[in-house]
Amino acid sequence: MAYSAKVMEHFSNPHNVGEIKDADGVGEVGNPKCGDIMRMYIKVDNDVITDVKFMTFGCGAAIATSSMATDLVKGKTIPEALKLTNKAVMEALDGLPAIKVHCSVLAEQAIKAAVSDYYRRRGIDPTPIVGEI
Ligand code: FES
Ligand code: FES
Repeated sequence: MAYSAKVMEHFSNPHNVGEIKDADGVGEVGNPKCGDIMRMYIKVDNDVITDVKFMTFGCGAAIATSSMATDLVKGKTIPEALKLTNKAVMEALDGLPAIKVHCSVLAEQAIKAAVSDYYRRRGIDPTPIVGEI
């Protein structure tokens, strides 16, 4: 199994690590098979994700995909962020080994979970907008 240079870079020096205390949305997802957990915090202003941070307890690929996913949604509108796919995260990282593809799925789901929480806090049912996570 070989990791791309980009994966190694984001694993060794992940971007947007941490918590946002006054976040507008927090999403947590996990994979029961590997036990890894990803938590994402978003700050939203006028439908734009002005800040995003993550805490991931998991493998190197989970950390690298969290880092890349947060980079990709930062400064984007909520509808743009919801278009983020695990495939786009993998491509931005120059690929992942097959057994690590689910780590990128977790990153996509974590963003969606944070957006869902953002809608819920505003009294809006997120399911029709975000879909099932
Ligand atoms: Fe070992 Fe995720 S499988 S840390
Ligand atoms: Fe499960 Fe990476 S091995 S998220």
